[in-house]
Amino acid sequence: MTNIEIIDKTKEYVKNKLEDEGSGHDWWHILRVYNNALDIAEKEGNCDIFIIELAALLHDIADWKFNDGNLDKGSEIAGIFLADLNVDEKIIEHVSDIIKNISFKGANVKNTITTKEGMIVQDADRLDAIGAMGIGRAFAYGGFMKREMYNPDVSHEIHNTFEEYKNKSGSTINHFYEKLLLLKDKMNTKTGKEKAEKRHEFMRSFLDEFYSEWNGEL
Ligand code: ADP
Ligand code: NI
Repeated sequence: MTNIEIIDKTKEYVKNKLEDEGSGHDWWHILRVYNNALDIAEKEGNCDIFIIELAALLHDIADWKFNDGNLDKGSEIAGIFLADLNVDEKIIEHVSDIIKNISFKGANVKNTITTKEGMIVQDADRLDAIGAMGIGRAFAYGGFMKREMYNPDVSHEIHNTFEEYKNKSGSTINHFYEKLLLLKDKMNTKTGKEKAEKRHEFMRSFLDEFYSEWNGEL
């Protein structure tokens, strides 16, 4: 099978699997991450596009949040899928490693992504968690989990460890403080950092507007 055929098969597989997903990991999220990862890769240069494509497409195939905190589930499923397509073992290992290490696990948890390909896919995934997309996805996720939008009686909480982050249950607005506003300074690549700036500012203005409206000032 050619690389193009492998990518086409992977797109078809992921699309079918995530079509009805309601927590913000739907096929459209995957497609946005895929397109943004390719754009970053082109600007950064010097990286393996095939690895980036596979990792972007398969990165949310099984999320730890919906698999009892199991961080290995996604990479296992992706590994089995790619082995069925006879993809080279070294490539499977690299893609699985990216999937295993891509997600945010708390404010002070050290990033374990090591390769340039991983850094690019992680940046693309993080860009989709901030800006207008990030705001939309956060409220969609909050609704899916039946969380309240905001609670002015509870002060903002930041969760430093994975244990704390995993067990959190705050409002959607709190999610901006525990994760979304922190992402700008955690971007890996120069291109990712540049892209994050505008999205970050947009979230800041959104929050200003949100509080003004909440308080009846507008
Ligand atoms: P990603 O796929 O970008 O790694 P996650 O798997 O952490 O992100 O979550 C999927 C989407 O849901 C993201 O946009 C994320 O910010 C959002 N999300 C995750 N946890 C919460 C939460 N507690 N409240 C609101 N949104 C959340
Ligand atoms: Ni994602």
